[in-house]
Amino acid sequence: MYGMGTIRKNIFLVVGILVVLVLLDQLYLHVWLSTPHTEFQRSLHVDDVRQLLRAGEDAALTTILFDPFILHAWNSNQHVSATGVCIFLCHVIGPLTFAVTHGQLRDKPTFLTRLAQLGFTVTLFENPEGEHAHVFLVRKGSPLHLVVLHTKSAGYLRQYALNGPPHNMAQVKQYITKDTWENMKVDRAYERFSTKDARIDEVDLTIPSDIEAFVRDHKTSHFIPCNESRATFYNLKHMKEETPSEVRFKHKAWKLLAKAKTLMDQLKIPFWLSSGTCLGFYRQCDIIPWAMDVDIGVFIEDYNPRLVEEFQRRGLRLTHKFGKVSDSFELSFKEEDIKLDIFFFYTEGATMWNGGTQAKTGKKFKYVFPAFTLCWTEFLDLKVRIPCQTEEYIRANYGPSWFTPIKHWDWKSSPPNVRENGMWPESMWSEVIVVNEG
Ligand SMILES: *[C@@H]1O[C@H](CO)[C@@H](O)[C@H](O)[C@H]1NC(C)=O
Repeated sequence: MYGMGTIRKNIFLVVGILVVLVLLDQLYLHVWLSTPHTEFQRSLHVDDVRQLLRAGEDAALTTILFDPFILHAWNSNQHVSATGVCIFLCHVIGPLTFAVTHGQLRDKPTFLTRLAQLGFTVTLFENPEGEHAHVFLVRKGSPLHLVVLHTKSAGYLRQYALNGPPHNMAQVKQYITKDTWENMKVDRAYERFSTKDARIDEVDLTIPSDIEAFVRDHKTSHFIPCNESRATFYNLKHMKEETPSEVRFKHKAWKLLAKAKTLMDQLKIPFWLSSGTCLGFYRQCDIIPWAMDVDIGVFIEDYNPRLVEEFQRRGLRLTHKFGKVSDSFELSFKEEDIKLDIFFFYTEGATMWNGGTQAKTGKKFKYVFPAFTLCWTEFLDLKVRIPCQTEEYIRANYGPSWFTPIKHWDWKSSPPNVRENGMWPESMWSEVIVVNEG
């Protein structure tokens, strides 16, 4: 039994979908008319998808539907289906994206030969290491795009930016809008995910089990690899033999960062490499051996009061708590003799800042950065975040000569982005200056 409300809702939904389809079709037609005509059909052929899945089955290789827009649209409108009508898959603009793992693609070479037998024109792209990174398939309709996911020892899946000579790409490129093309030139990192079966537009597909988690992960998947040539140049220019105590420091600092990552991940608090730890990543792809501590940043909105309790439960001693959540909040922990500083960031107009407090005098400081967004990177076998605008962030903190090593640094006067920011009233000191050394 359906009530009037449900029927009306369904009518609106169907009308809405029809309007969207017509608009998409117009847009498609526009793109189509502005590109030279070829023998190809202008839209996706479901039969191409079926043949791709067939090649996967024949080679015992899993092809996963990996298109966040289509998956999201289907997930929120699963009840919409009509026999013989391709609602979701066919209205993609540009190539429809699937994923395969690099391990499977490498171990099942029959997959690519089977695709060719089934009538696909196969175009391969490689990553800088010469491994498969992307595959484009053209048969009857618009192209299919396979992202080759590489499993990394740091426990994530890497999608390489589309690079290299688009030699026989003319026939593929005409289906790709400029935005989509730019999007394909981005490196990405995904959390590992499980898959499930789903029937979409009468096609039996494999899709990520948790679609909304995948869609969220995709939105924040931008990855920036460490610049190894910069690190090599830095090391040639500045690296001296490391002393045994520097080697020990680096080892302990790494362990502390890895532990902080585990705890922050459990608490679901996003963090990024900040200050000296960020500089070490950007300049030398390593921990700076004469640094004194590990520095991470957290947006104040992401603070979870369980943080202190959880860190202490896992053996990290709280040594400083400065400021309060509404202003200049900062926490320091210690494990053995290594300090972990957590700087909390506040957004103000086009800037982001974190606060500092001088314990002796109650003086407040403010470290101001141009607003930034967060990207992933791999740092010493850990998947961690960094500001995407890494160099701007470092320049704000260390000035234009950030590339030159400095061993004496005063947090109250050296950074070019430090501002005096008044005093904490003495009556508040017991709350905003908590020092717990010894
Ligand atoms: C790596 O660093 C060098 C030196 O700073 C720079 O010239 C080059 O453009 C960087 N490479 C990338 C991919 O950012």
